[in-house]
Amino acid sequence: MAKVDLTVRILRFNPEVDKKPYWQEYQVSADETAQVLDVLHQIKWYQDGTLTLRRSCAHGVCGSDAMVINGSNRLACKTLVRDVAPKLTVEPIRGLPVIKDLVVDMEPFFASYRAVEPWFMNDERPPVRERLQSQEERARFDDTTKCILCAACTTSCPSFWANGRYIGPAAIVQAHRFIFDSRDQGQAERLQVLNDRFGVWACRTAFNCVEACPREINITKAIGEVKKALLFGEVDF
Ligand code: SF4
Ligand code: F3S
Ligand code: FES
Repeated sequence: MAKVDLTVRILRFNPEVDKKPYWQEYQVSADETAQVLDVLHQIKWYQDGTLTLRRSCAHGVCGSDAMVINGSNRLACKTLVRDVAPKLTVEPIRGLPVIKDLVVDMEPFFASYRAVEPWFMNDERPPVRERLQSQEERARFDDTTKCILCAACTTSCPSFWANGRYIGPAAIVQAHRFIFDSRDQGQAERLQVLNDRFGVWACRTAFNCVEACPREINITKAIGEVKKALLFGEVDF
């Protein structure tokens, strides 16, 4: 496998000792098919143990390693060295408080997630077996089931940067997943939460979220469908 020499610049910040963030540079040699996450591991494990980052699965599933890579929101484990070499810059995702280096405080993001009540609601007694759904009904919300809550969308959104009270595209995607599920009965509650100037109406259709999403979810389509449901007062399954 071909090796590539990389100059890696990382935006460092430890609020306990630093007055402001600063860039630190490292030289790394890595396989061209290695992940950016491997490069960060190489730095942390062999050059500088103080570098702090968050990750878990290393396979694009857990959503914990979203960061700004060469200027765009990406998952470090889904970005290959050959696509960023020879210069790699890494920053924390924007709009959330930095805890240390590449680790941000996700609590405001998850507060918005909780606000849309992202769980199945139906008080009717269930049938003896499962609640049935046609393939067409299941397909209606299939795209938004793919979200891994990485926050790459919300933290790439100019409306969110301008006002952190905006509930953000990820929460709307999660709401969409239940609003358009024919078995769920919590549509009115969720639509009420989103019918707010800091709800769906804060979206200015900037499309950054679509570009950022590692699951290729059509986020603006989902937001448009929620807006339509609010404007016309009905949910088409
Ligand atoms: Fe991440 Fe996409 Fe979900 Fe946003 S919609 S949190 S970018 S997976
Ligand atoms: Fe933001 Fe995406 Fe809307 S980037 S403004 S949520 S289309
Ligand atoms: Fe889990 Fe990258 S480490 S998505």
